[in-house]
Amino acid sequence: MGASVCIDGALVAPELASVPVMDRGFLYGDSAFEVTRTYGGQPFALGAHLDRLERSCERLGIPATGLGAALRPEIAVALGAAANEESYVRVIVTRGITDIGLGVGRGETPRRVVVVLPLTEQPAALYEDGVELATVMSARALDGTGAAGAKASNYLPNILALAAARARGGYEALSVGPGGELLEGATSNVFLVRGGRVATPPLGVGILEGITRRVVMEAAREGGVEVEERLLFPPDLYGADEAFITSSLREVVPVVRADGAVIGDGRPGLVTRRLAAAFARRRDALLAAERG
Ligand code: PDD
Repeated sequence: MGASVCIDGALVAPELASVPVMDRGFLYGDSAFEVTRTYGGQPFALGAHLDRLERSCERLGIPATGLGAALRPEIAVALGAAANEESYVRVIVTRGITDIGLGVGRGETPRRVVVVLPLTEQPAALYEDGVELATVMSARALDGTGAAGAKASNYLPNILALAAARARGGYEALSVGPGGELLEGATSNVFLVRGGRVATPPLGVGILEGITRRVVMEAAREGGVEVEERLLFPPDLYGADEAFITSSLREVVPVVRADGAVIGDGRPGLVTRRLAAAFARRRDALLAAERG
């Protein structure tokens, strides 16, 4: 049971694992990353995560050819070495080392880092009682750039938004864009339910295309529940019958308050619980399909 680290294909003792100080991931946050977890020791939606990682790198101009194929066995080696019952898996690809300065496009060699940790199970209260969101006006690192929505490692805006939310008693921050539109959490996507209809912000507002978000939407549609992707604003949140957030580490978490306002009856909603169960069924089907 424990941690393991694989850097460019080499297993390194976690306590000794390091990257050079001239690595641009360290110097500038110039890197992309993915986070998933295992179920029964099997990383969930690994193909989708690696595809998204390659897309993030491409959008950042980090050479991405063959990244997924190179990383898949390295993730397997790191999981085997960690030998956890369940693991947290973080995969980082940096732009590597260049001459000092921000210039790019000079044939950099990306650095691949895989970090595996024992998975910290989420507290049952998260799902039984639900959580509070705090809206935070928050520009994110890539907003307004051609790479908006890529999963770049620079999470300082997310860190600061979460700190502001926690200072106001929120569990998760909910970022609000320049036009007042709801975006996403510091590390989650958001969904609202009103009159049995489910809605979530569209990718075009510059949010991460969450894998859990996608699986929930697929599961909902399979169950005859349409999910509308449309611009949402704080009054939509405060006036919702239900709300929930989604992420690879937390799956579907009910939201029962936002900025101090009670959502619905202040308890996890029925549609939310049904979609959480539908997600779990689809998740298990996807895991079985990945096992072949
Ligand atoms: N990412 N939006 C942001 C900004 C995120 O960081 C995450 C979670 C999500 C949900 O995406 P997914 O369903 O693919 O996990 C949305 C991981 C879990 C993290 O950063 O910890």
